[in-house]
Amino acid sequence: MEISITKADKIGKLKMLIVPMFEDIPFAKTCPEEIKDMVELRRQDGDFEGKEGQSLLLFPDYEGFPVKVLLIGFGKKAGLNATKVRCEVAVAIKSAKNHKVQEVGFYMVKELYGFAQSIAEGFVLSNYNPAKYQTGKKKEENEKKDVKKVFVVSAENNRKAEKEYERALDKGLQIGEAANLVRDLVNGPHNMVNADVMVEEAEKAAKQSNSSVLILEEKDMEKMGMGAMLGVGEAAEYEPKMVIMEYKAKGAVTKAPVVIVGKGITFDSGGYNLKPSQGMDAMKMDKAGAAAIIGTFRLLKKLGIRRNVIGILAITENLIGPTAQKPNDIVTAYNGKTIEVANTDAEGRLILADAIAYGVKKYKPDCVIDLATLTGAIIVALGERHAGLFSNDKELGEKLVIAGESTDELVWPMPIHEDVKEKVKGKLADLVNWESSGMAGPCKGAAFIEEFVGGNKWAHIDIAGTAYVKEPKKYDHHGATGYGVRLLIEFLEQI
Ligand code: BES
Ligand code: MN
Ligand code: ZN
Repeated sequence: MEISITKADKIGKLKMLIVPMFEDIPFAKTCPEEIKDMVELRRQDGDFEGKEGQSLLLFPDYEGFPVKVLLIGFGKKAGLNATKVRCEVAVAIKSAKNHKVQEVGFYMVKELYGFAQSIAEGFVLSNYNPAKYQTGKKKEENEKKDVKKVFVVSAENNRKAEKEYERALDKGLQIGEAANLVRDLVNGPHNMVNADVMVEEAEKAAKQSNSSVLILEEKDMEKMGMGAMLGVGEAAEYEPKMVIMEYKAKGAVTKAPVVIVGKGITFDSGGYNLKPSQGMDAMKMDKAGAAAIIGTFRLLKKLGIRRNVIGILAITENLIGPTAQKPNDIVTAYNGKTIEVANTDAEGRLILADAIAYGVKKYKPDCVIDLATLTGAIIVALGERHAGLFSNDKELGEKLVIAGESTDELVWPMPIHEDVKEKVKGKLADLVNWESSGMAGPCKGAAFIEEFVGGNKWAHIDIAGTAYVKEPKKYDHHGATGYGVRLLIEFLEQI
């Protein structure tokens, strides 16, 4: 998608103009001169009040004015926030899609200047087209619905304001596109997005942020003693890979980096603790943590992030076969701890164990954040809107909560009780990756991971519910949401 700023006298060529309206501001004050009377009549008739989620299509029939004008209700200006803006913009874009208008105008009123980034995010996120693999007529029809260009039209002549929101629009566009790439990676099935593809995408992303990349192959991991990661990848079709990306910021605030770690299981069958059919459905999404880190790395340099950032991706598949890890196998992790694999389906914590242990040993980080589709139980507990947040540091946790609120990638603090920490202590080995009680599943996952953070500041974000959804938000789609990019970028900018 392209977003560009256009002069008001050029809008006549547009097929559709989106005009935002507020419930608590007289319509005549914010809308274009040409449609003032028309809009006021619609209000009097009760057709449109500017309420959140409301929209109304008008056909003004003025020469030199767009044929279609789409009024979009933004609710009360007084209660407006970034989340609402993204949603309202999505209502507009989805309507443009239905009308197959590939070039639309957006009437930028001064009430929205401060929301330019969210506006652009809304444009790009809601314009995402998930039907990548259709063919023929269906594909053509589908592609006709893509909005190719948005012309942002300034309601008033204010060059200075325009310059400022132009920058914010571009930032929103970049963030939206990175999130859409994450969606593609997460929606991509295993026969299309395998470990090698993930590595290629990581390399591309690292290049975009001038980051160096180190790829640990199976033999490297063997030498280094990453037995937890290798155990999971034992029966993989594609060799397991650990990808390490190093971003060195210009004018970094502090030397110690933020280490972000992503679970990259390209398919999770459960292993010998095989998932039932229903549970296996959509397990291509089990790489959403790693994908979010790839998306974030695309942006670090472009957005001038002033933090040193290390991205670590643990990439493999959890399959069955003669060589596959068996229940009760005992593996040794990178930090020397031994683990009894009581359940091969609790594989996420195993691969994160090695990735995190490596990250803290090598980089002495300021903090570590891992993103992982770790447990189905977090979906039961929190649903699809909040990810589960586990942290050993109050301040770090709070910063993530705040970043979540402003980006609408919400996280909800969850506990790790001392008694739960006992549950991951092993009888035969140092640790065990599963116990049968069925209680506090997501917390036990977090407690297990904490064994590998070496006392560093750390947060674990369980994104099983938020990364891939059945009931999407207005600007999302069924399936992958691209969760994590906005959250991590906001966090890195704010700390
Ligand atoms: N990848 C799954 C978690 C998951 C489930 C993500 C549903 C998205 C939707 C993870 O590897 C897993 O299998 N977790 C087990 C943990 C259990 C064995 C302790 C689960 O949730 O059942
Ligand atoms: Mn699993
Ligand atoms: Zn998994």
